[in-house]
Amino acid sequence: MEVLESRGELKRIQEPVSPYLEITEITDRVVKAGGPALLFENVVGPSHRTASPNVLSAVMNHPSIHPAHRPTDSRKYDFPVAINTMATRKRMSLALSCEDFEEHADRIEALLKPEIPKGPVEALKKLPWLLGELKNVPPKTVTSAPCQDVVLQGDDIDLYKLPVLTCWPEDGGPFVTLPLVFTHDPNTGKRNVGMYRVQIHDKNTCGMHWQMHKTGMRQMEDAGSKGKNLEACIVLGGDPVYNFCAIAPLPPGIDEMLFGGFIRRKNVELVKAKTVDVMVPADAEIIIEGYIDPSERKLEGPFGDHTGYYSLAEDFPVFHVTAITHRNKAIYPATIVGQPPMEDGWMGKAVERVFLPFIKLSVPEIVDMHLPVEATFHNMAFVSVKKKYPGHAFKIMNAIWGLGGLAFTKFVFIFDEDCDVQNIGEVLFRMGANCDPSRDVMHTKGPVDQLDHASVAEGFGGKIGFDCTHKWPGENGFTRHYPKLITMADDVKQKVDAMWPRLGL
Ligand SMILES: Cc1cc2nc3c(=O)[nH]c(=O)nc-3n(C[C@H](O)[C@H](O)[C@H](O)COP(=O)(O)O)c2cc1C
Repeated sequence: MEVLESRGELKRIQEPVSPYLEITEITDRVVKAGGPALLFENVVGPSHRTASPNVLSAVMNHPSIHPAHRPTDSRKYDFPVAINTMATRKRMSLALSCEDFEEHADRIEALLKPEIPKGPVEALKKLPWLLGELKNVPPKTVTSAPCQDVVLQGDDIDLYKLPVLTCWPEDGGPFVTLPLVFTHDPNTGKRNVGMYRVQIHDKNTCGMHWQMHKTGMRQMEDAGSKGKNLEACIVLGGDPVYNFCAIAPLPPGIDEMLFGGFIRRKNVELVKAKTVDVMVPADAEIIIEGYIDPSERKLEGPFGDHTGYYSLAEDFPVFHVTAITHRNKAIYPATIVGQPPMEDGWMGKAVERVFLPFIKLSVPEIVDMHLPVEATFHNMAFVSVKKKYPGHAFKIMNAIWGLGGLAFTKFVFIFDEDCDVQNIGEVLFRMGANCDPSRDVMHTKGPVDQLDHASVAEGFGGKIGFDCTHKWPGENGFTRHYPKLITMADDVKQKVDAMWPRLGL
């Protein structure tokens, strides 16, 4: 908050505002206009004054709305709500402790492709750089932490005391939208941190929406096969870099908190939770501690989701709260998802840029990649490649459908290396000009986002790739002469560059 405020990126709002739909409506308008981060300092239960008669009766009669969120309740929450904190390129970069998040892509590229020193002297010169990059990686353990200033257990636990947003009119209830779920692998003890939405069911239980392909779900199944519950902590706030780590497509077994230390160039400090055997970030705002019984399910949703549609209500695991701890004067962090562009668009963009070097490590022919925010990222990928042999584009499509989170991509378009895939105009031009749908298309099937409502089955569906590269003689049945792309001669361009100021154009 301090960094955002000092940069003129934060607007404090004192107007009384309800977490029931109103914060979403305000934030949606602000995010679409590229506006500032918001700190709602006066969050109150909905009042007759602010709700329209239609909204009022809908809310009053909706069985899933807890009394705390009903219009008659004008309670003031103890926690202000921070939202839209990462919703521009600048703020997403600040969240990653840098001026532009491409810096981290450069750091990772340098680490992954180190130039072999020419001799021992050069090697020694490089050592400080390498140590500097890696010294902050391991997390540190501390014994006391601000996130445990206040410890609530037993009858003092009440999730309804948090200003959890009910985002959209048809949502099944209030949802925690920026939760960092910390768990440990029951076999190896290794930590996992994932962002999985959390629906408030009642005072001390909530939903745990880890989807079928996610690590949290795997760990819960493993705990179940040992006949055990899975302990977990839902962490809210702390260094915003943790949000990025939680959504980062790190391979299972790679600790998100190591990655966090690398990104923020400072070791993450962890403290043991009060009632479960889980380590949590010391600087967090609020921690919800508890466990999941792997055999238990409860209806979760609907939820106005990042697909731009309501994800359907379905049975998901249940989280039982054993303690809530928080800072004195804690701030409740939130985001909203819905029709793009939203704040998660910038979170996804940062993932795309920072993880490109890792992707290039496995598929070095890839030059650049663009997952358009309008297609909610995993629906579509534009990829430029250094084409070296006939059918190369099809090899890249297969690689993408085999890579971590990219495997969910429904539509893949492959372009030559000279196509700027960040430029939608150029992408559409190349697609239209170079792709013959009867020859340059490949269909396949596989896992898709569990939230995809259009797929043939839940979590499983079709994928299609388009080869939009220039075709080579004989390639995939192409027998015609392939024309050259029109470009101007370099010497003429230089001459015109030189005369340009005199032309008065
Ligand atoms: C705002 C936001 C909300 C998300 N909500 C969920 C969710 O409810 N369930 C889920 O499985 N993934 C959700 N994700 C995606 C996961 O956080 C992401 O796939 C992450 O890499 C999962 O971690 P894992 O691979 O360790 O399971 C969300 C991402 C964002 C940015």
